[in-house]
Amino acid sequence: MQFFIDTANLTEIKAAMEMGLVDGVTTNPSLMSKEADDWRDIAGQICKLVPGPVSLEVIALDAEGMVREAKELMQFGPNVVVKVPMTAEGLKAVRILKSKDIETNVTLVFSAAQALLAAKAGAAYVSPFLGRLDDVGQDGMELVHQIMGIYANYGFSTRIIAASIRSPLHVLDAAMAGAHIATVPFKILKQLIDHPLTDKGIAAFLKDWEKKAGK
Ligand code: E4P
Repeated sequence: MQFFIDTANLTEIKAAMEMGLVDGVTTNPSLMSKEADDWRDIAGQICKLVPGPVSLEVIALDAEGMVREAKELMQFGPNVVVKVPMTAEGLKAVRILKSKDIETNVTLVFSAAQALLAAKAGAAYVSPFLGRLDDVGQDGMELVHQIMGIYANYGFSTRIIAASIRSPLHVLDAAMAGAHIATVPFKILKQLIDHPLTDKGIAAFLKDWEKKAGK
């Protein structure tokens, strides 16, 4: 499973890269707006720093505007993936961008039917939002299973990004479901690393070592 980091924060991206946990980055307008610097500076720096795919989202709601913004976003680097919302206009944009060999990530996907359409339009990635479905009492992980099944039935090459990850269990369940990628907030990455028994074990080993050393 690949790990993307779901943030526009350079400090978090660098820290996760040092641990070898960054195969790519996903951003969205909300994540960009949390950062103090101009989004263009941030996008440029992320694209230079990260060798893998970096999803940058369009703001336009019409296909023509999305394609225009996509061309601007592509100037940040060859690793840019244009993030497009799951709408009729978004699907039109995906098709146009695919014809220009520009990769897209169809975002805000909440049903398997939407994921099927995104794949048919030629999306390189599709992002089902697990946490936001769970928030409204639906089973986000079930959606990942459904999309996996549909894509396998028809041999679609669109890669599934388990998105809107809210807990370490989401990552584990997405891995068990076979999602190609999980895009994980930095806070959840840290939660995945930590375990109280690891800390307890380290403390016990050190205590025994110090006893032996006569400290
Ligand atoms: C990733 O592509 C999404 O933008 C992100 O995972 C959304 O997460 P949220 O539902 O926690 O905002």
